[in-house]
Amino acid sequence: MKLVRNLVVASAMSGLLVTASVASDADLIAKGDKIFNNKKKGNCFACHDVNGKKIDGPGSFGPKLTGMSYWDDQTLYDTVYDIYAARGIKISAMPAFGTNGWLDDEEIKAVVAYLKTIN
Ligand code: HEC
Repeated sequence: MKLVRNLVVASAMSGLLVTASVASDADLIAKGDKIFNNKKKGNCFACHDVNGKKIDGPGSFGPKLTGMSYWDDQTLYDTVYDIYAARGIKISAMPAFGTNGWLDDEEIKAVVAYLKTIN
């Protein structure tokens, strides 16, 4: 009987954990969205069109971002962290956000979570 009770408690607790991780995914995406569309943070929207949102004004330096949901997390992380190192290129309009210290690890992870919502 005690075993059964423990199992019930354990599965109730894992149910809670699953709920918590889904909620934090949504939080992470919202945080990434804010960074992406914030002039003082990522400012990614100054250079990238996403999800049909058109760049307003000059500065469309970067490609329109599509199909990001198909990229794996690590590739996206590396691209945002330092596109020069990730691609072995020397010249790009895109800043190396991680290497420059403009975005920390948590912020880049949030941006990646947001990028994964872009089709
Ligand atoms: C000043 C302009 C600029 C800003 C700001 C900028 N990017 Fe870029 N980005 C570029 C350019 C240009 C490229 C194309 C890479 C190259 O130079 O060859 C690129 C490429 C990318 C790619 C690869 C796209 C592909 O299809 O290959 C991703 C992903 C990306 N940027 C995400 C971001 C994110 C996220 C931010 C904000 C944290 C950001 N960019 C900010 C200019 C910018």
